[in-house]
Amino acid sequence: METVPDFLQKIKQQYLQQVSPNHFQWVTSDNEWSILVEPFAQAYLCEFLRPSIYTKLLLKSYFRLLDKYNQDHAEPVETLFYIYIESLSSREIPPVQYTLCDYSVRVYESQNVLLREGTTGARTWEAGMALAELLYHNPINPGTRVVELGAGTGLVSILCSKMGASVLATDGDNNVCQGIKRNAHLNGCDIPVQRLLWGVDPPVYADLVLASDVTYEGDLRCLATTMNDLITVNPCCKILLAATLRRQETIDNFLRLLPNFHVRVLTNKKYAKLLYYDSPPVVFYEIFR
Ligand SMILES: C[S@@+](CC[C@H](N)C(=O)[O-])C[C@H]1O[C@@H](n2cnc3c(N)ncnc32)[C@H](O)[C@@H]1O
Repeated sequence: METVPDFLQKIKQQYLQQVSPNHFQWVTSDNEWSILVEPFAQAYLCEFLRPSIYTKLLLKSYFRLLDKYNQDHAEPVETLFYIYIESLSSREIPPVQYTLCDYSVRVYESQNVLLREGTTGARTWEAGMALAELLYHNPINPGTRVVELGAGTGLVSILCSKMGASVLATDGDNNVCQGIKRNAHLNGCDIPVQRLLWGVDPPVYADLVLASDVTYEGDLRCLATTMNDLITVNPCCKILLAATLRRQETIDNFLRLLPNFHVRVLTNKKYAKLLYYDSPPVVFYEIFR
């Protein structure tokens, strides 16, 4: 059996992560492109492509590229056509799979940014993916009690649970909490999920608080109150905040709401990027007393 070239494995991971066809990177060189049109490479694609709305969009863009770059105008293998045809009538929306080497997390999510009464928790955000990567490279000590705030789809909580941490996933939106339970179940993880509306619901005990892309709204006093309360419950607690820097001013204003805490910016070690996303830079802050 031929070894699968790296770029084909990356295509598989992007496919499973449902990277948008506009951002999907099929190849990075002409040489890879000449491999991608080979029947063995197309047969490899057929091994994991499943009929779905997403597959339809992706194969459409693949056929367009094939037409453009394939000098010999060879037809794609038949099975690819069948998968495409089945995808045309498919209503299937499979879970998105995030692959971090030996760990993979599958979550149902929606690409619509605002769903269900305005919550943003129905999709995984870039800061969530960046935090998952950071935690993959810096595993949490077993036994650490982790609480995630604004957990959204639950990617980070589920990954931590798979890595052996004891996690409580929280979010302020009841529907989002239901979604996290469903996603945890999908991954065979038994994670407690609890509504924790910032500034309203009582704090819980945590050794480590995780939060990604939660500092995007105008008034963040409720979030600051909750962080303050969490550190009051356990003064040794550390908060790891992943913030997408859309506007530096927003994050600066937020940090000003925590005058009694130390804030350390984690220097961005250059890790191999394992997940696929483009974003403004994500900065990690460690907040502690
Ligand atoms: C932009 S999403 C980020 C989700 C996830 N952390 C990620 O990075 O993909 C913000 C999350 O915070 C939650 N959230 C927003 N305001 C909240 C509040 N006042 N209390 C608790 N959760 C809140 C939303 O429901 C949503 O799940």
